[in-house]
Amino acid sequence: MRFVRISGNSSTSASASATPLEMLLDCHARTRHFMQLSRTLADAKSVPHQEIAEAATSVLRHFGNTLPLHEADENESLFLRLQAALPPGGLVREAADTMVEQHNAINELVNELLPLCASLGRQPGRLPSISHRLVHVTQALNQIFAAHLCLEETVVFPAITEWLAPAQIKEMFHEMHERRRPARSTIHLIQ
Ligand SMILES: [Fe+2]
Ligand SMILES: [Fe+2]
Repeated sequence: MRFVRISGNSSTSASASATPLEMLLDCHARTRHFMQLSRTLADAKSVPHQEIAEAATSVLRHFGNTLPLHEADENESLFLRLQAALPPGGLVREAADTMVEQHNAINELVNELLPLCASLGRQPGRLPSISHRLVHVTQALNQIFAAHLCLEETVVFPAITEWLAPAQIKEMFHEMHERRRPARSTIHLIQ
């Protein structure tokens, strides 16, 4: 078995003009890609160690670096605005609440996945001894992501244009791009 070549790294950056919705959907596409890669990795047999290490490291990078930014986009930039705009008790409001609750369950599983991937990144030869744990956590994560991504794409994200004002969407745009700016290096002024 050979891994499908990973097209590009899981990126924490975004094109400068990407809208909030485009950024959210792009991350969903990446999450589906890296879930598939994690499943392939868990079942991998007779794969060169270097490929195992590369695949594990890219899964680690996505779920360890990119997903937290995406969740911050949803919890802080999107949910708080929807919470203020939506009447309580409605379908969309309930879906938004569920979205945030599901992030906690996802994070618990991701916290199990990351050390497995980190271990394989360093010692790919350990795959046979930890593959059963990788299969277990990947299946659980896959199940919750299937429901979670669908809920967001069909109910929560459409509320962006339906319930938020253009000025609020612009604020989201700035927040989400700012979140991905590299930390500014400290500038020492010489006097
Ligand atoms: Fe989410
Ligand atoms: Fe999402």
